Amino acid sequence: MRVVLVGYMASGKSSVGKLLARELGFQFLDLDEYIEEQQKKSIKTIFSEKGEIFFRKLEHEMLSEVLDKYQDLVLSTGGGTPCYGNNMETILQKSDHSIYLQLSIPALVERIKGEKENRPLVKNIKNEDLPEFIGKHLFERSQYYVEAKHVLECDGKDLETVVSEVKQLL
Ligand code: S3P
Repeated sequence: MRVVLVGYMASGKSSVGKLLARELGFQFLDLDEYIEEQQKKSIKTIFSEKGEIFFRKLEHEMLSEVLDKYQDLVLSTGGGTPCYGNNMETILQKSDHSIYLQLSIPALVERIKGEKENRPLVKNIKNEDLPEFIGKHLFERSQYYVEAKHVLECDGKDLETVVSEVKQLL
């Protein structure tokens, strides 16, 4: 069974994916980490040296590659992955379950405030401007996220709760 987690930056895709995979006994892959290993460079460096378009092409290629690679897999995607090209179509076709980990704008602002450094898209946004930026960005992206097979509301829930609720969806 292939399970794909989608959602905005800092929505918990990697932490949820890692624990979920461990509990299910599945392979876990984080698309950003996979790209970093392939390129032997951090996402931050790929963005600064080659630019976002180059990153999006890589992300698109690697998405299909990893989804073909394992039978039992939990894949955490990047926040932008479903929103470019036909990536969401690929996710829907190649996975058994896709789950949108949904968080409110205030919850995302709270999480992202202290975790901007390795995220090129928000790195230069002042904390006081984050609510407006995330609000607009999420509005553009939600249309892709909500195409996922399941939408799971995650506000106020701890990691274990989210993982157990995801398991009930499978
Ligand atoms: C991005 C999110 C990042 C990473 C890249 C671009 C985005 O992943 O793929 O910085 O477009 O939202 P996380 O969602 O794990 O932060």
